[in-house]
Amino acid sequence: MKHKKTIVTSALPYANGPLHIGHLAGCYLPADIYVRYLRSKGEDVIHICGTDEHGVQITLKAEQEKKTPKQLVDKYYGLIQKALKDIGIEYDNFSRTTRKVHIKETQKFFLKLLENGFLEEMEITQLFCEKCSRFLPDRFVEGECPFCSSGSARGDQCESCGRWLEPSMLKKPRCKICSSSPVLRNTKHWFLKLDALTDKLRSWHSTHPEWKDNVTKFCKTWFDEGLNPRAITRDIDWGVPVPLEDSHGKVLYVWFDAPIGYISSTMEWARDVKKQPDLWKKYWLEDNTRLIHFIGKDNIVFHAMVWPGMLMAHGDFILPDQIPANEFLNIEGEKISTSRNWAVWVDQALEVFPPDTLRYVLAATAPENSDVDFTWPEFQRRVNDELADVLGNFINRTLVFIAKYYGGKIPRLDPSYLDAEILKEIGNAPERIGALYESFQVKKAVSEFMKLARTGNKLFQSSEPWVLVKESPEKCRSVIAACAAIMDTLAAVIEPVLPFSSMKILKMLDLEKRSWNQGGEFRIQKDHATKKPEILFSKVEDGVIQKQRDLLGKERNMEQPEKERASILDMEKIGLKIGLVKSVEKVEKSDKLYKLTVDIGNEERQIVAGLVPYYSKEEILGRKVVVATNLEKAKIRGVESDGMILAADDGETVSLLSLDRDIPQGSKIK
Ligand code: MF3
Ligand code: ZN
Repeated sequence: MKHKKTIVTSALPYANGPLHIGHLAGCYLPADIYVRYLRSKGEDVIHICGTDEHGVQITLKAEQEKKTPKQLVDKYYGLIQKALKDIGIEYDNFSRTTRKVHIKETQKFFLKLLENGFLEEMEITQLFCEKCSRFLPDRFVEGECPFCSSGSARGDQCESCGRWLEPSMLKKPRCKICSSSPVLRNTKHWFLKLDALTDKLRSWHSTHPEWKDNVTKFCKTWFDEGLNPRAITRDIDWGVPVPLEDSHGKVLYVWFDAPIGYISSTMEWARDVKKQPDLWKKYWLEDNTRLIHFIGKDNIVFHAMVWPGMLMAHGDFILPDQIPANEFLNIEGEKISTSRNWAVWVDQALEVFPPDTLRYVLAATAPENSDVDFTWPEFQRRVNDELADVLGNFINRTLVFIAKYYGGKIPRLDPSYLDAEILKEIGNAPERIGALYESFQVKKAVSEFMKLARTGNKLFQSSEPWVLVKESPEKCRSVIAACAAIMDTLAAVIEPVLPFSSMKILKMLDLEKRSWNQGGEFRIQKDHATKKPEILFSKVEDGVIQKQRDLLGKERNMEQPEKERASILDMEKIGLKIGLVKSVEKVEKSDKLYKLTVDIGNEERQIVAGLVPYYSKEEILGRKVVVATNLEKAKIRGVESDGMILAADDGETVSLLSLDRDIPQGSKIK
């Protein structure tokens, strides 16, 4: 194999709203499935993402929610990150484009393009709203699309036909904020000379005949129309500042900074997670790395044209190898619309359904080659008839039988009692299904592993082991052992799509996760003891489905209720005091935690604090700190902690509070 490492990215979600299932189906779930598959094969792969926190869509939403852009992105970063985690999507790093590392890298990237001659400054006329007294780039303006005449095209793109637009191309433009008609004014901007990159881009595209049709077709239209220089700066005050002295008040266009987030997030990972600041280079600079961008189809032009163009103009980095772009997910016959709340929000759905049920239905119906429709009744049908009745039922009846007749121990498999076809189907399942994951055909992979579960069910049902156990005990043992082998194989091949269920099956089988490379080998030893059977999937009732349908189109209140205020007494209750750190020790098997002994005046306390990444032992020992002395005791990683050291945290670094004047330990803080 030529490639030794893989970077998998998913399009950075805008931090301007919660995550919905359209996002998941578009790129986050397929990317996670692919990464999990590669991991099971033992490949060197990193999964990189983060939130996209600049751009007009952020400022617009902030205005709507009466927040500053910073408050808005802080809120949605938290919600998005949690939703992704809860649905089992795992990243090596999940960053934010407002972090320092990103801003610095973006500015460096810009300067490199300037140095390489791929940027030019031009004076252009732009729409300006006199009432709001501001320029109207991108989504600040709406109007009629010059190509398809859709009435609600935005200044940057028409959602109906997918074309990338310039605000000045819109017919009948109106200001998004106040609806008045803008005027034209002159302003200077920096442009990326995409036209100069046409030949390079074209010949690079021709080396990728394996790309999906939707990507290839889209790019063809683009080449046919001719590539033009694209403005990459904006007159707004939220974004990465243009790193030039005379560009006061201008920022970089969000689609210039965001994809650089793939690189800066990898740098952050190398620095903060791996503690090897140069490790990102091994991925981004060496051409035995595959770079794979999972995206939704509305992102094709940016990932197949503009971003590769930027990378070419820069020159140091590798280019994308694959750009798996999914089509859209509609809901109950209509386009997802966040403004009308025609959406299924991931966090809300997870309050009701286990993550694997959502993952399953979205994978089984993935919009791989055309838009698809998600409906709640279909969700219910697939969970009940497929997950519960086929997969869950097969596993449960097998384990229950083993518990009842064999004292929980898996009997011996004698192949002469079994159909050779079935043995083959089990044996080659990992290879067959792996090839489908490998080629991004998740829908087919799902239908193949369900077929294997059906085979298992059929084998069990038609063998009638409850009769066989008396009439032909040898054969019965082999049938049940084969069912256990199917379970074991299923645990492996469903893992990319159904990680939580896979883990449960392995737990019940009391087996370790195996590498994909072990294939379909029968690894269960005679008399291997299983654990107590657990129900894998419960059925979904009609009433639950109706409730979900009723939520569609109803306004969702995203405001967190205002927090109740604490009284002075509450403040006292926490017991803030000055403490003196008497000893510092690392907590074993944790890369974050110190175990401290702190003198708080009249006694010494053992306190666990997550300061390892930020302070050395020497920096803490003998230092005076602020301690909350009256919190409930806690056990952190099995170590008792009686108190909390206060520190400030901005999401990037942590700072201990320090004293302005020396004051003895035990002093009260009020
Ligand atoms: N935030 C964009 C969207 O949701 C995607 C950004 S992808 C990146 O459509 F490449 F720019 F990061
Ligand atoms: Zn206006």
